[in-house]
Amino acid sequence: MYNFQYANPTRICFGEGQIASLPALIPPGSRLLVLYGGGSIRQNGVYEQIRQALAGMEWQEFSGISANPRYERLMEAVELVKRERIDFLLAVGGGSVVDGTKFVAAAACYEGDDPWDICANQADVARALPLGCVLTLPATGSESNPTAVVSRGDAKISFRTPLVQPQFAVLDPTTTYSLPARQTGNGVVDAFVHVTEQYLTFPVGGEVQDRLAEALLQVLVDNGPRALQEPDNYQVRANLMWAASLALNGLIGCGVPQDWASHAIGHQLTALYGLDHGQSLAVVLPSLLRERAAQKQEKLAQFAGRVWHSTREDKALRIEEAIIRTEQFFQQMGLPTRLAAYDLGESCIPAICSNLKRVGRTALGEQQDIDTDVVARILVRAL
Ligand code: NZQ
Ligand code: ZN
Repeated sequence: MYNFQYANPTRICFGEGQIASLPALIPPGSRLLVLYGGGSIRQNGVYEQIRQALAGMEWQEFSGISANPRYERLMEAVELVKRERIDFLLAVGGGSVVDGTKFVAAAACYEGDDPWDICANQADVARALPLGCVLTLPATGSESNPTAVVSRGDAKISFRTPLVQPQFAVLDPTTTYSLPARQTGNGVVDAFVHVTEQYLTFPVGGEVQDRLAEALLQVLVDNGPRALQEPDNYQVRANLMWAASLALNGLIGCGVPQDWASHAIGHQLTALYGLDHGQSLAVVLPSLLRERAAQKQEKLAQFAGRVWHSTREDKALRIEEAIIRTEQFFQQMGLPTRLAAYDLGESCIPAICSNLKRVGRTALGEQQDIDTDVVARILVRAL
């Protein structure tokens, strides 16, 4: 196991009714801005719960943060923050709203010329406004991690600083009952791939990390399909919400190698062709695992045995069985695993590779040996 430091400073307030605890979480006297997306919170009653919880506090709101949040809209929020001297941000929604709010928190305090440099050039973030969140879509882990992903034109780029890690995250599983099947599926697949990015690499003796990762994968496999059949099942939604949070709150990645190539490639599929984040991962991961089966063989064989309970003697067959079961699971969650499902053919491959070059992502994977030639081979497998 590698050396590591671990701290997760986000206070998790988990369970039904926890939105009511907001007044105790937001510093008294804050000049508060509530940020949200396209209106799902107005339809599912979350906005009303927020309004009731914040009665007696002064607050303003900013809506219209889209999926894959866009720089231009976020900069409008930054203007509002500066004009109204806002000093605390509350994100209410999915990963996009949380990520967008993180960018607003950093951009509002940024002293350089162009806040886009925070993403494009990984500019140093010296200060950020404090923020908290009410999460309505279990998927990204953004509610308790220091990362955000922002889009501008056909560039989709992440940045990371502990200054934008939410101070608190309210996780009420009942807020997820209203998720369309497509977003439930996206969320489960995203969380699954967050685990595999930190687990399907090469062994370094991290038994705790491995067993935690395998537990999270099993919970996702068991509860994901049930959430599609029983959207109002509290225990199912609660287990998915907690699993997705733990999948990317830093814990299982401590002291182990990490891959993240599926994410780097997937982001280009979203930026160029508009696939949802989860959809992009369902296409890339199985093909990446096949292309990298030799380098990842020990962990893939372990995954096959412990997560998919494969009993095949032959290691290669066991690994292929695990990849097929993974594809079938993604399909069961409603996500296709081939580019053809999105009418994408061979011609998308050079575009994805050149986008990766443009954002400087040409040495991917746990060994930094996935260059754009390997990416092209992965995408050919995914046609
Ligand atoms: O905008 P509204 O109206 O709220 O609708 C949203 C949106 O259309 C809807 N939704 C959310 N909660 C709902 C709901 N609809 C009904 N009921 C609810 N309870 O779902 C749609 C998708 O929401 P979005 O926030 O985009 O989804 P998700 O949470 O999957 O976030 C995806 C974004 O997060 C980034 C992705 O790249 C993508 O931009 N990621 C962030 C990460 C991080 N910060 O660590 C890591 C991830 O790997 C990922 O890259
Ligand atoms: Zn993801």
